[in-house]
Amino acid sequence: MSSAATSLAPCAERSLGEMPASLDHHWMPFTSNRDFKTDPKMFSRAKGVYYTSVAGDQVLDGSSGLFTTPAGHGRIEIAQAVYEQLLELDYTPSFTRSHPKAFALAERIAKLTPDGINRVFFVNSGSESVDTAMKIALAYHRARGEGHRTMFVSRERAYHGVNFGGVALSGMMKNRHAFGTGVPGVVHMRHTWLPENRFTKGQPENGAELADDLHRIATMVGGDNIAACFVEPIAGSTGVLVPPKGYLERLRQICDGYGILLVFDEVITGFGRTGKAFAAQSFGVTPDIMTMAKAITNGAQPMGAVAVKQEIYDTIVQQAPENAVEFFHGYTWSAHPAACAAALAALDIYDNERLFERAAQMSAYFLDAVFSLSDLPVITDIRGYGMIAGLDFAPANQPGARGHEIQKRLFDAGLHIKTTGDAGIIAPAFVAEGQQIDEMVAILRKVLSSYS
Ligand SMILES: Cc1ncc(COP(=O)(O)O)c(C=O)c1O
Repeated sequence: MSSAATSLAPCAERSLGEMPASLDHHWMPFTSNRDFKTDPKMFSRAKGVYYTSVAGDQVLDGSSGLFTTPAGHGRIEIAQAVYEQLLELDYTPSFTRSHPKAFALAERIAKLTPDGINRVFFVNSGSESVDTAMKIALAYHRARGEGHRTMFVSRERAYHGVNFGGVALSGMMKNRHAFGTGVPGVVHMRHTWLPENRFTKGQPENGAELADDLHRIATMVGGDNIAACFVEPIAGSTGVLVPPKGYLERLRQICDGYGILLVFDEVITGFGRTGKAFAAQSFGVTPDIMTMAKAITNGAQPMGAVAVKQEIYDTIVQQAPENAVEFFHGYTWSAHPAACAAALAALDIYDNERLFERAAQMSAYFLDAVFSLSDLPVITDIRGYGMIAGLDFAPANQPGARGHEIQKRLFDAGLHIKTTGDAGIIAPAFVAEGQQIDEMVAILRKVLSSYS
């Protein structure tokens, strides 16, 4: 199939995108549509750690897309693998049929996850991975005769995607506000941001005892009613809350005490962001279930996955009658051939270029650079671990208004970052050079210095 790959036109030969004739019809997700449509900021191409805007300006990608693209944009190996896959086998039904790359990819992922977590269920997004993990937890307890475990515990300020299960677990008010009561039976622990930990690089000293909220909840609702406790090892979207030292260990202990499954939502932290394959390994705490997405394909194809301990798979599968479907769940696009091809190519790049190790090595440089902004009056806190950091901006008259304005001004100055409310999140590609990190921080300093 290599001749097919030669049909891919090199990026430079393709023309810059033009501004669309109408902006009316596309309803953009998580966007101020009215604001965007009066001042559209769009990209037309990307290479390495740079986007090119429709206007032709270079914009540094300070967030690896949406934490999706640690190997940098425009990776020809991935494009080629997808192209070849689509010609060879574009689609296979995901129920009762499959294709070899789905199994090869599951095996590759099982080699990256902690020992014992070695069964992988494919989905198409982080949100689907979370809702799938909730169902797996419920099905597992039911299969072992504990169907009364129907409750979930999660955390304030958590982001677990936008499907109804994930919204119920999430702890960000705006993501819940318009959508009614949602899935019942979810109780939230406190978040782990503490004022005494402000400007801590790495894991904060204070706050391990916040994990005892799980114990308090268990003693209130009955620990044997709780199916699973979901946490992001580092709460990413809310602005990068790094777990206090000892916190995740304590959660693990409490879960074990009550027979509660511990789920790490590694949709952002997975695939090297913390300097190891998964945050579970960086923090030395093994959950029972892990969700992942985003960087699984370096962002080139939609895909997510749920990895579980073998015992969970075995319990669900073995309790079903012979030849019966064991788990009534799945998606038309689960393990889509093109997504599997992209993921295998992305994992090859991560391996060949030793990108997780590179993330670990670059981390100190990156965090020092971001923390050098601590003197700016508009910055009220900085947090960071591995290759992700969060900045809090002093709010203006309305919550989120300053974050929104800063994000637009940074774009105009040549830097794209993700903002959530009045927090900015910086998470460069692992292939970024020190000089590009310096450039990101210089743009941040220039724009943020204008706020007193
Ligand atoms: C921790 C976490 N879980 C789930 C999701 C949802 O992923 P998706 O947007 O792919 O549905 C995200 C997205 O940012 C996330 O950060």
